[in-house]
Amino acid sequence: MNEELVSESGHSHMGILNEKRILLGVCGSVAAFKAVALASQLNQAGAEVTTILTKDAARFVTPLSFTSVTQRPAYVDLYTPDPGRILHVALAEEADLLAVIPATANTLARMAQGLSDDLLACTYLSTRAPVLVAPAMDGGMYTNAATQASLATLRDSGVHVVEPLEGRAASGLVAKGRMPEVDALIAEIRTVLGRNGPLAGKTVVVTAGGTQEPLDPVRYIGNRSSGKMGFALAEAARDCGARVVLIQAATTAPPPLGMTTVSVTTAAEMQAAVNEHAAQADALIMAGAVADYRPETARSQKTKRTGDPLAIRLVENEDILAGVPRTLVKVGFAAETDDVLRNAEKKLTSKGADLIFANDVSRPDSGFGADTNQVVVLSNARPPEPLPLMAKSEVAAVILERVSGLVRERSEK
Ligand code: PMT
Repeated sequence: MNEELVSESGHSHMGILNEKRILLGVCGSVAAFKAVALASQLNQAGAEVTTILTKDAARFVTPLSFTSVTQRPAYVDLYTPDPGRILHVALAEEADLLAVIPATANTLARMAQGLSDDLLACTYLSTRAPVLVAPAMDGGMYTNAATQASLATLRDSGVHVVEPLEGRAASGLVAKGRMPEVDALIAEIRTVLGRNGPLAGKTVVVTAGGTQEPLDPVRYIGNRSSGKMGFALAEAARDCGARVVLIQAATTAPPPLGMTTVSVTTAAEMQAAVNEHAAQADALIMAGAVADYRPETARSQKTKRTGDPLAIRLVENEDILAGVPRTLVKVGFAAETDDVLRNAEKKLTSKGADLIFANDVSRPDSGFGADTNQVVVLSNARPPEPLPLMAKSEVAAVILERVSGLVRERSEK
């Protein structure tokens, strides 16, 4: 199993990037400094990053910056001697992905026109690897018809274009053209790398976080779910090539990127969202912590102290997972504090699930809030299978492997 890397903003970047050969093309933009941080994070996640700088890029950042953070070559000159091979052909053939970050209007135009006037342009023309570009430019350059025409041509050739943001550019102009931050770029890179994965063309719905059942306008009954387990599953599904719909209740962890997110508060809202999206999905993974009970009535005004005990009548929420038809692959968790296996087995049957992952939430290293989890896999086909304590991203990778297998079986029937 790989080491998990958590970025400064708390996103985990592991798995799919490990041992991937990424060619990073860097163009002459103020945003080039972000490419150094990106190269460093990709390297830490196990990717082999080789950098090609345009001549203009080398005026903003140096090849040495990239070799220092990647421990690999950074090239500028098309005619760099490389005995025994032709540099741009070798780089193009070896790559799992060519990512041009930042991509200037000039380089986008040269790529669109098929020019071969520098190392980056020649490598782009030669490669059969997927290509991603992240435009970064000032003022009206991005919206200019010529730039848009270049991007349209590139999109037509299968190039993945990262949408720039509205924001303040170095010039002080506020316009669309600002390059997204490193975490968002990594999510895009992971999405492209996973595009032909085992869940390509499939839709996976994932729930995360804890529902909140209102008592009055300021108070609710909730739980300690951070969203970490559900978010790790949503990222793992995205990395397998799936279109992911993440239905998230209250969470404290940083949300994942590169998917459709639906925010809900109560169990009833989660149920409505799950039913809507599960209807078009191939798999549903319910990692969210759903309240089994809600107050029968939520008061319209804040409850006042009276000096007397306060009784609140709770009524049962419907079982969301149980209500979803068995036509799609249904996966749940069992959050238990006692008699873990027996309770989880009951849930496998009563909810009509294909898989249940039982976690003992009384352990400090598992379940709510922890970065790790120890789960036991329950299925209708095999005896209970305890997995070792792992990072939640690793648990998610194992779960997605199982889910991919079941989705494949289901679609072959
Ligand atoms: O978010 P984290 O801090 O990372 O914590 C992760 C987790 C502990 C929340 C997660 O690993 C987990 O166990 N999630 C399931 C929590 C839960 O609601 O468990 P349960 O045993 O009460 O329910 C069993 C299954 O039925 C769950 O998949 C649940 O989503 C689903 N359920 C529960 C109640 C309900 N009314 N409808 C449901 O569909």
